[in-house]
Amino acid sequence: MINNKIAAQIIAESQFMQDILTGLQASPKFMQAKYFYDRAGDLLFQKIMKLEEYYVTNAEMDILTKQSGKIADLITSENTPFDLIELGAGDATKSIHLLKELSNRKLEFSYMPIDISAGIISQLEDHLPKTLPGLSVIGLNGDYFEMLEKGTTLSSRRKVVLFMGANIGNMDVAEAEDFCSTLRASLTKGDILIIGFDLKKDPKQILAAYNDSHGITAAFNLNLLTRINRELNADFKLEAFEHYPFYDPESGACKSYLISLKSQEVRIGEEALIHFEAYEPVYMEISQKYSLQDIEEMAIATGFQFNQRFFDEHNYFVDAIWTVV
Ligand code: AVI
Repeated sequence: MINNKIAAQIIAESQFMQDILTGLQASPKFMQAKYFYDRAGDLLFQKIMKLEEYYVTNAEMDILTKQSGKIADLITSENTPFDLIELGAGDATKSIHLLKELSNRKLEFSYMPIDISAGIISQLEDHLPKTLPGLSVIGLNGDYFEMLEKGTTLSSRRKVVLFMGANIGNMDVAEAEDFCSTLRASLTKGDILIIGFDLKKDPKQILAAYNDSHGITAAFNLNLLTRINRELNADFKLEAFEHYPFYDPESGACKSYLISLKSQEVRIGEEALIHFEAYEPVYMEISQKYSLQDIEEMAIATGFQFNQRFFDEHNYFVDAIWTVV
């Protein structure tokens, strides 16, 4: 068991090295935002979610706290047992509201949270049945699509998939379409997808959400350099890079970059010496924003029928309900 754990860690580390080198040797340079989330990155992201300027979390929470009853009615309008599968469940602070409503409906269902963190999954399996007695929780630890496959082999009930938190926004539009098409292929006609999109809005408000006045989002991006220094034995000087977010209101793409403030060399382990030009950007993350029309078009293009939408009180965010056709 311990050996398996060490082997998995070695594979993960060499994948990390490979991905970082691929990105830094490319032109233009890029990094993968999935690597933001080490322990310090998780803590910084929790701080981001509490920021006044980062409206995204509160907006979706507003939907779940006030409208979970209506969402539950929609899910249970077909009066047959189902599995509620959540992609990237985290600590389920939002979905707990929906779980409560569903548990009140007395219709048989299992909650299958999928998360890449084994710790999160065992916590959910332990805590949720205490908060909601009688709730059946089947935790699935691993990659979204592999675990979705497992979920469909474990039970043949109809599926309701939750993909919230604007996580779809961390893919560009083409990747998001591929993702939804792949998801569609693992589901069956009549299954439901509940998917959260952050909406196009005042460009200044969007930019402020990714350029907060406390510098937490800047620290969140720069933390990846600290992680690379520690785990890949690199020598990034953090003060020589600056966080630069940019929102394009036409495409809805909000992109974050780290800008090299001078011409410099950075060593990554024994493997590489990377040259940065003065003011050269490293593309870190996309947070794509959508219009309602963009969302409808994506549903149709990826094999879903657009069904219902739930908005927060300010119309900042939408949880869209799609049905597989
Ligand atoms: C996780 N994801 C939806 C966040 C977002 O809004 O794109 C990540 C984030 N990056 C900077 N701030 C928040």
